[in-house]
Amino acid sequence: MKSLVVYYSKSGNTEKAAKAIARGSEAELKRVEEVNPENVSDYSLIYIGTPVHALAPAKPIKEFLKKLPDLSGKKGAGFCTMHMIGDRRTLRIIKERLEAKNIEFLGGFSCRGLSSIFGDIGPKIFNRRKPNEEDLKKAENFGRKLLNQAKQKVEKLIDPSLPNFGVRQGDPGSPRQSFFEI
Ligand SMILES: Cc1cc2nc3c(=O)[nH]c(=O)nc-3n(C[C@H](O)[C@H](O)[C@H](O)COP(=O)(O)O)c2cc1C
Repeated sequence: MKSLVVYYSKSGNTEKAAKAIARGSEAELKRVEEVNPENVSDYSLIYIGTPVHALAPAKPIKEFLKKLPDLSGKKGAGFCTMHMIGDRRTLRIIKERLEAKNIEFLGGFSCRGLSSIFGDIGPKIFNRRKPNEEDLKKAENFGRKLLNQAKQKVEKLIDPSLPNFGVRQGDPGSPRQSFFEI
């Protein structure tokens, strides 16, 4: 299964998580600046990664999500790093924006990331050297788990010349009629 990790990272934290997730999911890894949102339909699974900026995804990621075409049948996931607050909201926004493009959202991941701006505010002690090795191990496992989940759900095209075995019935007119789930 062809997978892609697209991420934005201002100070390197989200990039560390992105690399770990790409390792776990055998995905291609690209900065959001390198990817044309119109050209991602080759990928069956897309992970979107961002730092939390003002309790939301960073602007380049919001722009990217807005420009995605309809990608019915594709799977998606989100991940973020934050200093202290806003990961749930950020992941929810990613989920909603992916679903608006008919991408099935499989799950989200978040971890702490030391902020040069907020470093002295809040629980700095907990964020020192974050994301750390343990966080990155979790990120890698997240990537692997979601890849396996997506593989289980993947739909395979049946050669139309074959007998009608395994075709999903009862869905007249649906473009999915010639697909089946493995
Ligand atoms: C402009 C800006 C806004 C931020 N807003 C938040 C925020 O709302 N909540 C939070 O916990 N951290 C916030 N942070 C901290 C970052 O989310 C955090 O340090 C993150 O790990 C940085 O990721 P990066 O190194 O990939 O850029 C903000 C950082 C910046 C630069």
